[in-house]
Amino acid sequence: MRTACWIGSKRGLTDAREPLRRYFEARIALGEPPVILPGLRRSEALEALAGGGGGVTGTRPEEEAPIAAEPGAPEAPTPSTPELARLAREGTAERIRELDFDELREVALACRRCALHEDRQHVVFGEGASDARLVCVGEAPGAVEDETGRPFVGRAGQLLDLMLMSVGLRRDEVYICNVLKCRPPGNRNPQPEEIAACSPLLLQQIDLIDPKVIIAFGTFAAQTLLGTRESIGRLRGRTHLYGRFPLVVTYHPAASLRNPGWKRPTWEDLQIARRVIDGDSGLRSGAAGRELSLDLP
Ligand code: URA
Repeated sequence: MRTACWIGSKRGLTDAREPLRRYFEARIALGEPPVILPGLRRSEALEALAGGGGGVTGTRPEEEAPIAAEPGAPEAPTPSTPELARLAREGTAERIRELDFDELREVALACRRCALHEDRQHVVFGEGASDARLVCVGEAPGAVEDETGRPFVGRAGQLLDLMLMSVGLRRDEVYICNVLKCRPPGNRNPQPEEIAACSPLLLQQIDLIDPKVIIAFGTFAAQTLLGTRESIGRLRGRTHLYGRFPLVVTYHPAASLRNPGWKRPTWEDLQIARRVIDGDSGLRSGAAGRELSLDLP
């Protein structure tokens, strides 16, 4: 028999499973040790958490296997019009900034605007809700992303999913993409000419999705969107503006896998973004300019 589990708050009784699930998922995301629930078998604990399972046995995300490729995901065909085919070869940033979402995807999937197209298996355009309140921007596809054509599906992506869940966001309700849509060989850093060729696609993606907030994960996303050379350490912990969009900067999940001490500040940054989604712009009233800040409460 399944027993209900309730917790009280000023607003009355609430089903405790969802907050508990989020708590355990946040523990995993932050690399905390497993929780032992005396008297409960693992299967019972998992059932009580409605399939969440976060933290109950403590499998660390970096030990999990990568998500398998979707079988037979084909490379996109040639663009549907000569104009889109031309844009995929040599389109100017101005012209790319006029495309709708379907045209943008067609151009991206056929893109030859920089040398990275030569070695790619798949263009990783991005995925998620087209009306997402949050756009997550990473650096560039890695090996698993290049294989699958999907962003953030390797180990860093699994950590990203957990971090999003810990602030109450499912992967399928946000939009996830990168500064570069093709994998740099050996995961080397993006080169300035690659960013210049590819970033108009990202900027148009953001404009069309029109999110409430953007999170820039890592140096390249932050520096590209804010037009600055400042380090993540100096940019994180507050809200900036990219155009009309509030933007929060944080560490890249791959960096947190190497340096687990960065998981907690990342989680705090995600909570800033969550507050923006919930209606607190995080920007001081009356302030203007490109890089505005809020003071953390
Ligand atoms: N790292 C990124 O920046 N993006 C991905 O999609 C995967 C890993």
